[in-house]
Amino acid sequence: MNDLTQSAFAKPRVVGQRTPRIDGEYKLTGRAGYTGELLAEGMRYGYPVPATIANGVLESLELDDALAMPGVVDILHHGHFESLHRSPNSMAHGDMVSEVRLPFEDERIYYHGQYVALVVAETFEQARAAAQRVVARYREDDGAVVGLLHTDTQGELQESAGTSRGDPEAAFGGAEVKIDSTYQIAAESHLQMEMHATLAEWRDDGKRLVVHESTQGVFFQRNAMARIFGIAQENLEVISHYIGSGFGNKLFMWPHAVATAVAARMVGRPVKVVLPRQQDMTGGGNRPASRQRVRLGADRSGKLTSVIHDSTTETSWVHQYVDACGSATPSFYACDNVSTSQRVLEVNHGTPCPMRAPGEVSGIFALETAMDELAVELGMDPVELRQKNNAEQDPASGLPWSSKHLDECLTSAARRFGWDKRDPAIGSMRDGDEIIGYGMASCTWSAGRQPCEARVELRADGSLFAACGTQDIGTGTYTIVAQAVAELTGTDLSRIEVKLGETSLPAGPLSGGSMATATVLPAVAAAVRDALDAIKEVAVGSGGAFEGSDADSLSAEAGGLTDGKRRVSFAEILETSKLSSVNGKGSAAPGDERSEYSFRSFGAHFVEIRIDPEISRVRVARVVSTIDIGRAINPPTARNQVEGGIVMGLGMGLLEKLDYDPRDARLINANVADYILPTHADAPEIDVELLDYPDFKHNEFGGRGVGEIGLTGVAPAIANAIYHATGKRYRDLPITIEALLASS
Ligand code: MOS
Repeated sequence: MNDLTQSAFAKPRVVGQRTPRIDGEYKLTGRAGYTGELLAEGMRYGYPVPATIANGVLESLELDDALAMPGVVDILHHGHFESLHRSPNSMAHGDMVSEVRLPFEDERIYYHGQYVALVVAETFEQARAAAQRVVARYREDDGAVVGLLHTDTQGELQESAGTSRGDPEAAFGGAEVKIDSTYQIAAESHLQMEMHATLAEWRDDGKRLVVHESTQGVFFQRNAMARIFGIAQENLEVISHYIGSGFGNKLFMWPHAVATAVAARMVGRPVKVVLPRQQDMTGGGNRPASRQRVRLGADRSGKLTSVIHDSTTETSWVHQYVDACGSATPSFYACDNVSTSQRVLEVNHGTPCPMRAPGEVSGIFALETAMDELAVELGMDPVELRQKNNAEQDPASGLPWSSKHLDECLTSAARRFGWDKRDPAIGSMRDGDEIIGYGMASCTWSAGRQPCEARVELRADGSLFAACGTQDIGTGTYTIVAQAVAELTGTDLSRIEVKLGETSLPAGPLSGGSMATATVLPAVAAAVRDALDAIKEVAVGSGGAFEGSDADSLSAEAGGLTDGKRRVSFAEILETSKLSSVNGKGSAAPGDERSEYSFRSFGAHFVEIRIDPEISRVRVARVVSTIDIGRAINPPTARNQVEGGIVMGLGMGLLEKLDYDPRDARLINANVADYILPTHADAPEIDVELLDYPDFKHNEFGGRGVGEIGLTGVAPAIANAIYHATGKRYRDLPITIEALLASS
């Protein structure tokens, strides 16, 4: 087992340093090649036809007009489609799909926007025009479930997603101070910049399927497609070189991908489908609405004696997706009596799926708002209340934390924010016509790690090549891989080429769960070491640059090997021995440390809001955050993740909401005009500090990952600030102008 505490990266030169993105130039010059932009020889375009009811049966399709439109090649539907196999749809099987049923499997309609046909034509415009000519007739059934927040139905209990310790009910019953509140959060859209897209092509007389997909997991998609199409994994390649972000909805494979691959086979040409924004929003994933009840019991000193967190979230009729709101709760605060429960309710929407800090971000809104309510009830400073209940070890597992600095996050952010200037009296802080509110919340996200493989090549032209079948979803994975290679070899970053996003490369993880950094870098390091061993053998061998030396006496320095007296570049070593390259392979996986320590990141957000009471306009003026993610491998891109999370949290707190028509469960605002997002004008002054405590128990690079934690805790800090300004406790998100008006 690796002794992770003895890291080679205690004093790194490249890792942890500000490093411009190595793929930045490709993106800026338009050469990056996102899936939707790719062209293939003889390619055709597909355009899905979405159902216009949410619950019922497709009775007939009239296709004659559409088929007669210019350029139309074929129209796929239930009566004209291949027979395929269902996917097991489980992480344990290495795949995840949004629907267990196959596209066009039967005529049952479960949600508005479900595909009833796919038009294939010579151009995108022709496909779209013909799709609009397809006439579908339905039998609409009563009883569409409009959404969790439109019903009092309980939902089905998910035993596996609940936990309990101590006797929380009894402790709550006997508590000196009690909070019992219910929180509701509207469904949200990921609204990632690049919509779902697939380009599928059958090669070698239909034996081999090559799929370009904008996905957060090329291997997961390959595994799912191999089963669905009944072809060997080696005959299926999934490629995703550049991704215009995902936020979780590109973890699942969606029906358009399977339909596109079938279309490509049926028309005998490559076919591309790029979902239009409306379809991306209706059938390409969402954060499900949630209803949560939190009960907190405490003694008069503020010590928590009971935490009971009961959640219900939406799922669809075609997938059992559990957005586990309570999953951070058992580890959040030191308390002997804690329980969580989780229910799901089937609703007539497209399948919900993970969205940035899935479950926990909703759960932390409820928990951290309840903590603020408790602080008010106790007449205690909310920062002090959190410090008083700080968990010195993980109360869920009883294990020590690998590294936890929440207390420093709280004190540092409070100091930079100027929390000491806060007058806790409601509405007491004013600036002209505006009322100022201060609010805060803690935040957290788990630090996971997966097995991973990587490959490295040292080449005679002096370049280095590193490859791993993970993806860069825009977060900067290409760059940190290059940094790791540069660190271990002393090679200049400009000579390092990184390849990601192909299933032909060594198996890499999902870009999800904030796990990619901690997962991929150790495997890359292992591959670099293997390549260095190989080139040392070459160098000391017959005719080599260090012929006769002991391989162990050589070490890597500045893109070459040195014996302490002279340095010879990798290129020269390879030239001398007439070799074009040497290769290294490596793999890495979490080990015994996972049973010895608990791994989780923590942080704190402080928010200033300003309200103009005359017009009920609320504005987030400032956010000051301190987050502990271990070591930031590339500080600017890491900070950028937190800043993006803060803006997303502002949307969650004040603006974002998928609206479903109460009459027929249709998603009303499936477009970027009516789904309200924060704009630049809404963005506050943001001050993010990342602490620098490398977590070498987690991995030798000391980084815990940063994609998700920045979003958690933002919405409750905003709601708590609004309470401070107005004395009104808003427990439903988003806190819209209408809600502020209604209670003012
Ligand atoms: Mo994240 S929801 O794992 O992309």
